[in-house]
Amino acid sequence: MQVFAHRGASGDHPENTLVAIERAIQFDADGIEIDVQLADDQVMVFHDRWLHRTTNGIGRLRDASFEQLRQLKTGGDQQIPTLLEVLDCIRGRCQLNVELKHKEVAGPTLNALDFAVAQLGFAPEQLIVSSFHHRLLSELRYNWPQYNYAGLTASVPLDLAEFAQRIGCSAIHIDVANLDDDLIDDAHRRGLQVRVYTVDEVDDVIALQAQGVDGIFTNFPSRAIAALKPI
Ligand code: G3P
Ligand code: CA
Repeated sequence: MQVFAHRGASGDHPENTLVAIERAIQFDADGIEIDVQLADDQVMVFHDRWLHRTTNGIGRLRDASFEQLRQLKTGGDQQIPTLLEVLDCIRGRCQLNVELKHKEVAGPTLNALDFAVAQLGFAPEQLIVSSFHHRLLSELRYNWPQYNYAGLTASVPLDLAEFAQRIGCSAIHIDVANLDDDLIDDAHRRGLQVRVYTVDEVDDVIALQAQGVDGIFTNFPSRAIAALKPI
């Protein structure tokens, strides 16, 4: 079972920052998950719509200029990174799951992934694009078939795996609260991987591996990786 660091090693460092990402790589995470949004025509790596929870700023991310965003500090004095800075930091050392928080960020994000493959040492197979906007994924796959796509859901529609397969996804990313054996079987029969968010407790990590889950998203990758090591 693969371990993806959720927003980097965000249990130990400010989420979605370069220090959290570098730490996840040091922990030997199989992959890193980040969130992207467009602000002032830049692809910013940031989860919330609003600035106040994770920075010393207020207001909405999308209303700020790039210069204003660069002056904000997250915990530990880290800046909000751009997607290009994150890609330049990772340089193909692990997989990267980019979650598109809205539709407008999609084109600039996929162009950045193209640059990462051309210039920064990534193989296309290392890059996973996920979103709650499933129709968007299907459109992106038409123009960028070389990347992996994952349908992200908070609830579980009855035909989730069937739909994800039909639009060309290689995986579904689901809330751990909605996981069940039938869904795992259905997804696997259709050739889809099942990755689960967000899993921080060691007992849950071990149980999910036994259940046949292919990957987890965790805020504590070091804890999960240690739990999965053979004795
Ligand atoms: O990609 C899995 C998970 O990150 C989705 O939820 O709110 O943490 O972005 P959220
Ligand atoms: Ca996310």
